[in-house]
Amino acid sequence: PVTAVVLVAAGSGERLGYGIPKAAVPLGGEPILLHALRGIVAAGVGSQVCVALPAGDDGLRQLVEDFRLELADGGPLLTTVDGGATRADSVRSALGSLVEGTEAVLVHDAARALTPEYVFHRVVDSLAAGAVAVIPAVPVVDTVKTVVPTTGEDGRMAPEIVTGTAPREELRAVQTPQGFHLPTLLRAHEAALKFDERQTAAVTDDAMLVELLGVPVHVVHGSTQSLKITTPLDLIIAEGLLEGPLG
Ligand code: CTP
Ligand code: MG
Repeated sequence: PVTAVVLVAAGSGERLGYGIPKAAVPLGGEPILLHALRGIVAAGVGSQVCVALPAGDDGLRQLVEDFRLELADGGPLLTTVDGGATRADSVRSALGSLVEGTEAVLVHDAARALTPEYVFHRVVDSLAAGAVAVIPAVPVVDTVKTVVPTTGEDGRMAPEIVTGTAPREELRAVQTPQGFHLPTLLRAHEAALKFDERQTAAVTDDAMLVELLGVPVHVVHGSTQSLKITTPLDLIIAEGLLEGPLG
């Protein structure tokens, strides 16, 4: 299928705490966004790459312009859009600007700047084999519990109380790129426009919107190298991976 990649890079990077958009934060001396763009182009998975950037960020826009000049003939069409207030808004903005004739889309986080090529290929291969939605995922290493907040008799916050332990063998930590038939993802994102504030805040990936349509979401193996750079610790790990990737 004619495939586009949506690269969402419009977040502010609050948890990383650099005071600049996360996409501009240096990793191995170069902006995170540049690593992410190189990874997509090296994987050769899309005829268009549409990057959602923080609105009005001329520095990141220039970075994409400069990268376009580096692209060899036959490289993907590289476009940008202004992202929105939430990740889903940024995805919607990019989906609305894909070229006519696009049949499938991979949605990827710029924060997963070191995703190995083989992860992209697993997702693309699954789409080619007929999946309508496909996500890369890895087993969960921690024991995961559900909790509820409690309040003491004096009304002050008391410790959280455990309500259950999730069966770990059934859990997966989900990554990007997530691949979809474009019409299905458009329908899923349109439905999400009707969400209330609480539901909107609970949207953390694209696949969950497709799940709500009742469409089966296939799972392929991701990679622990495909970590989402979220906290300062993640940046240290990513720097280490650049030094010498795990086998
Ligand atoms: N993203 C986006 N538009 C938003 C929010 C997030 O394009 N309004 C993108 C980020 O740029 C990132 C990906 O979605 O590549 C995953 O989001 P996350 O890791 O949460 O990044 P930030 O939102 O930037 O970080 P934080 O939540 O710590 O502020
Ligand atoms: Mg965020």
